[in-house]
Amino acid sequence: MNLTRLVYYSQRNPSEELDTKSLIETCKRNNARLHLTGLLHYNGDHFIQVIEGGRIDVSELYHRIARDPRHANIILLSCTDVRERMFPTWSMALHQGMNAQTRKAFLRYFSTDMVNPETVNVDTLLDALQDMMMETPTKLTISV
Ligand SMILES: Cc1cc2nc3c(=O)[nH]c(=O)nc-3n(C[C@H](O)[C@H](O)[C@H](O)COP(=O)(O)O)c2cc1C
Repeated sequence: MNLTRLVYYSQRNPSEELDTKSLIETCKRNNARLHLTGLLHYNGDHFIQVIEGGRIDVSELYHRIARDPRHANIILLSCTDVRERMFPTWSMALHQGMNAQTRKAFLRYFSTDMVNPETVNVDTLLDALQDMMMETPTKLTISV
């Protein structure tokens, strides 16, 4: 079956409690069952999530996530068929924070380390996220 990759950006809702450890446990439980994989980057202010898997499963999950009150102003950056997974190893890897290495990965591709969801080129963003994952392995909470 086809593989679909979806990327979105959203802002943390500070009025709602967020326990990233329990969130990633939920992701692990649900995503593994559906063969969904991906990456969730959270810098304390906003999220960028990549979800890869079957088209219907990706779509259903996105709509569920979009209704989640823990974040707001969700912006769909892309949803496209792909030949191969970019993040095949993790049912959902969590990358938290913006340390010097992460900043370096972003600055390799962008003029600033702030992603503007209105203008960002998604392919370039995915390159930066891939580098970030390779270069900051100690910062990851990984769910396999
Ligand atoms: C930023 C963010 C990312 C999320 N990513 C996922 C995910 O990848 N998989 C998932 O099952 N739920 C994810 N959720 C949680 C869902 O919104 C929802 O709470 C959850 O799927 C409900 O699962 P449950 O019925 O097993 O408790 C995410 C929530 C937020 C705020």
